[in-house]
Amino acid sequence: MIINNCKLELVQGDITTQKVDAIVNAANKALAGGAGVDGAIQHAGGPTILEECNKIGRCAEGHAVITKGGKLTAEWVIHSVGPIYSEGAFGQSQVLSSAYRNSLKLAVEYSIATIAFPSISTGAFRYPLHDAAKIALQTVVTFLITETHELKLVRFVLFDEKTFHIYSEELQHFA
Ligand code: AR6
Repeated sequence: MIINNCKLELVQGDITTQKVDAIVNAANKALAGGAGVDGAIQHAGGPTILEECNKIGRCAEGHAVITKGGKLTAEWVIHSVGPIYSEGAFGQSQVLSSAYRNSLKLAVEYSIATIAFPSISTGAFRYPLHDAAKIALQTVVTFLITETHELKLVRFVLFDEKTFHIYSEELQHFA
């Protein structure tokens, strides 16, 4: 799908091997590294990413910080902190949406043209997949329509088939 000169696409795969300017990490507030996509990025990119994260310190939920990509093909890693899902808690959808929006704002600030996102918060942070997919896609589509940007590609890289399938279903609502 093309929105305002920017391609929005979904692929199933590993975000660490993407040939894009920036990949987004599903980080935690302490920027301390971890498992899941975070572990995969730190492993593939080497220790300089975590060293830069340690210098930055912390990042609030719904916000994002940027480091270089170390040994990754991607020049940049945008570390974005989604909410830890808790049933019935207030404002989680806004926090998840902000995590995507603030990542895109950083991308614009750094003149990044091509960016890949994982499915933030739907692994260790347990955000229900259908809701998270809707919020992720809606936020990106709205950003591409309403904000001034030079983005050429926003790619969601979904690791497993179920996640890819659910995002694909949700994207059809925007076609
Ligand atoms: N490429 C793309 N997606 C991946 C990859 C990969 N290489 N590996 C896993 N995923 P999670 P969260 C998917 O748990 O829920 C970490 O410990 C995974 O299948 O990585 O935001 C951090 O340090 C799932 O669909 O992120 C935080 O503490 C999605 O990425 C915490 O987990 C997100 O799962 C963040 O939890």
